[in-house]
Amino acid sequence: MSDSEIPQTEKKKGGQRGNKKNNSDKKKPALSKKKEKALQREAERRNAVMAAFNKYYEEEWGPERWPVLLEALKKPVRHCMMMNKYANVQDVKTKLKDILPDLTMLDFVSIPCYASKTMSRFPQPGKDSNNVTDYYILDAASVLATEALDIQPDEQVLDICAAPGGKTLSVLQRLDKKYGRLTSNEIASDRRRRLRQVIESYLPPDVAQEVSTVVGKDGTRYYGEPEQYDKVLLDAPCSSERHLLHDEKELELWSPKRTQVNAKRQLSILKAAVHSVRVGGLVLYATCSISSLENDKVVERMINKGKIPIEPLKLKLPVGEKTKYGWLCLPDKTTWGPLYFALVRRTGVSKEGELDDDEDSEDDDV
Ligand SMILES: C[S@@+](CC[C@H](N)C(=O)[O-])C[C@H]1O[C@@H](n2cnc3c(N)ncnc32)[C@H](O)[C@@H]1O
Repeated sequence: MSDSEIPQTEKKKGGQRGNKKNNSDKKKPALSKKKEKALQREAERRNAVMAAFNKYYEEEWGPERWPVLLEALKKPVRHCMMMNKYANVQDVKTKLKDILPDLTMLDFVSIPCYASKTMSRFPQPGKDSNNVTDYYILDAASVLATEALDIQPDEQVLDICAAPGGKTLSVLQRLDKKYGRLTSNEIASDRRRRLRQVIESYLPPDVAQEVSTVVGKDGTRYYGEPEQYDKVLLDAPCSSERHLLHDEKELELWSPKRTQVNAKRQLSILKAAVHSVRVGGLVLYATCSISSLENDKVVERMINKGKIPIEPLKLKLPVGEKTKYGWLCLPDKTTWGPLYFALVRRTGVSKEGELDDDEDSEDDDV
């Protein structure tokens, strides 16, 4: 507090000599009152945001499901260990021998993944005797999503929003180093660094060199490689509501506008993803949002308004629930997620010009 902010009456009293103790005693309540008010305002703001958040998602999910879903979202995220096929199996077995009875193998994914029966923490991933990292810890719904792409060993794949790299790694588990190739794109340089580190630490150097390229483009403007890929994975930046519920400061910044802004950006990246995939190729669109604006509505807009024709493919998976165009794993029903994903096939060439990335500049309602 500057001198000019001190109430005049107190200033005067503070001016009296030999009354130091009294002076500080008097100032303190004034200071703490201000602080108290600030704290109160902060709490009111937080409550108002939480009320708006609740109202928004209750309208979306209904009064019966929302409270149950909200409780599940507030719980700690459940993870699994995705085994790295390049790591030495014997080394991993030895490392995990003491916790083996607590581990259960997940039968709804084909890459070997293990969850804890008692929700215990896993030992940190580490290097095996060949200096390859043994496993990656992530949400099993992420593995399920990438498996919906059904990557074949010889395919050319683009991961257009790739960092930190959990889904990148699960794609890499399926590619053959001789014939397959993955281009991982990440716009943020610090996250791109992390992505490179992940790929380098999980793949033997010769495999990494043959199979993987990391680039740093803006996904909304990814128009330099038309019809280049067999499969494109778009794990889009989104509202990440579960993350917000675990971070008070982030939650304070939430407003319904956020999901609208995200949806607009997601559609821009989806257009570029569809532009990059060959005719007949597949795009997997994913978010960890629970907002339909960022999920089915983005896919719907692409189907109805995108210049490149696509068709949604039906998904029928052992875990999760069907949506209009895709699939949702939510923690109240599956313990995993949230993760939405939709699989679409490009069915033809652009109906108009090649570049359609600025089409949605008029789409303020997205
Ligand atoms: C949901 S995260 C991806 C998570 C990742 N697929 C994984 O499984 O570890 C979305 C990523 O997209 C990046 N991103 C945001 N906007 C982007 C853009 N315009 N172009 C490319 N990447 C972008 C973010 O920095 C973030 O790392």
